[in-house]
Amino acid sequence: MNKLNGMLDADLKGKVCLIRFDHNVVKKGSIKDTMRIDATIPTLLHIYKKGGLPVMMTHVGRPYDKKTGEITISEGDSVLAIVRYLENKLQLKGLVPDCHAEGKSGITDLSPLEPAIKELKQGRVDFVYLPNTRWFKGEEARDDSAIDLAKKLASFADVYVNDAFGSWQAHASTYGIVDFLPAYAGLLMQKEVDNLGSIFSPRRPLVAVVAGAKFDTKIGPLSSLIKIADHLVLGGVIYNAYLCHKYGLQIEGVASEDIEQAARFIADSGVDASKIVELPYIVENHGIEDRKEWKIHSVKDLKPGTKLGYVLDVAAQNFGEAALQKLFWEAGTIFVNAVMGYTALFPEGTQAMYGLIDKCSAATKLFGGGDTIQDFKEYLPGIFAKAMNDKTYYFFTGGGAILDAIQQGSAFGMKPVSALIKK
Ligand code: 3PG
Ligand code: MG
Repeated sequence: MNKLNGMLDADLKGKVCLIRFDHNVVKKGSIKDTMRIDATIPTLLHIYKKGGLPVMMTHVGRPYDKKTGEITISEGDSVLAIVRYLENKLQLKGLVPDCHAEGKSGITDLSPLEPAIKELKQGRVDFVYLPNTRWFKGEEARDDSAIDLAKKLASFADVYVNDAFGSWQAHASTYGIVDFLPAYAGLLMQKEVDNLGSIFSPRRPLVAVVAGAKFDTKIGPLSSLIKIADHLVLGGVIYNAYLCHKYGLQIEGVASEDIEQAARFIADSGVDASKIVELPYIVENHGIEDRKEWKIHSVKDLKPGTKLGYVLDVAAQNFGEAALQKLFWEAGTIFVNAVMGYTALFPEGTQAMYGLIDKCSAATKLFGGGDTIQDFKEYLPGIFAKAMNDKTYYFFTGGGAILDAIQQGSAFGMKPVSALIKK
């Protein structure tokens, strides 16, 4: 049986522990929500308890342009806000090595790490936090520069700990580095992977809810998810594209490629489309700037060829329908990786759905995705506060991560996770 190489038994005394977190919570220089940092504090405390010396790292934002290969370094994507937060919360002193980049090719000179780690070893600081991993040349590369970076990073440490469940992409700091250091799964990583088991071997029926702004990035995971789930509820552009395909509608903002992807998804011989739960009422709005001339439509009453403005939500009344309520109430497991619409303008669909899910007291309720959880907190603060201490709820710190694991077909399927399996 697969088992992660956990950090609990590792000898960390006096060792420089290079830890990859997913502290990607900084937007324009400020922290939006600390949940993903707080969730990793047990790992950090464990390292201190074992006498290890923590050198932390995370990516922030997407400073690497995949098309041009250029890396844009801006203060808004810096790790400084995270460092200040940890310093305040834990009353520790941190240090960020002063690395500089060459033009747009990212940081290549890692020599400033050496004096920083010396400070750590001599007890003048409590932790080192590396600059944004995506500022380093090679982090996202597919050539030798990725191996170079992994090797260089490894040369400063004694062990590597991956606690970055949400950072599922195989990059130098999440994956490549495993070849060059003894590598362990952090405590959060371990917990998240354990909970993924509830999706792969669920108490049935399993109701899955997925939404997204584009079909192409979701088609692979959706094709896998619909095989595992008993019922699939769609939202966002994904649902709009499905409606366009099935009912011949034209919805503003839904690209023809999205509709083609929806058609391809349904046509896949392995996909049982009868598992898709249709939400009959949708909300059309004029534009996406503010609530304007908005209307609720029943999909069944719209003739093929009907042109709609932006469809920005599913109507709350869907979740008052007896058949839909029954489907949720009977669920053994509910997995949600989605908000229903454009919540900034129309939070009602999401509020109604999460409210209904909360009433499913016997079901295991699994929520994934930073935005999903932030919206939950913002639009249903009372239920969210209660849910945080309710054992039937679990909040994953990653969303894309779960979908990748589902696509790979195993809780251990993500490349950075599979690299941590005990040999
Ligand atoms: C996230 O915030 O979704 C994770 O940190 C992953 O970020 P990425 O999608 O930019 O890789
Ligand atoms: Mg994301």
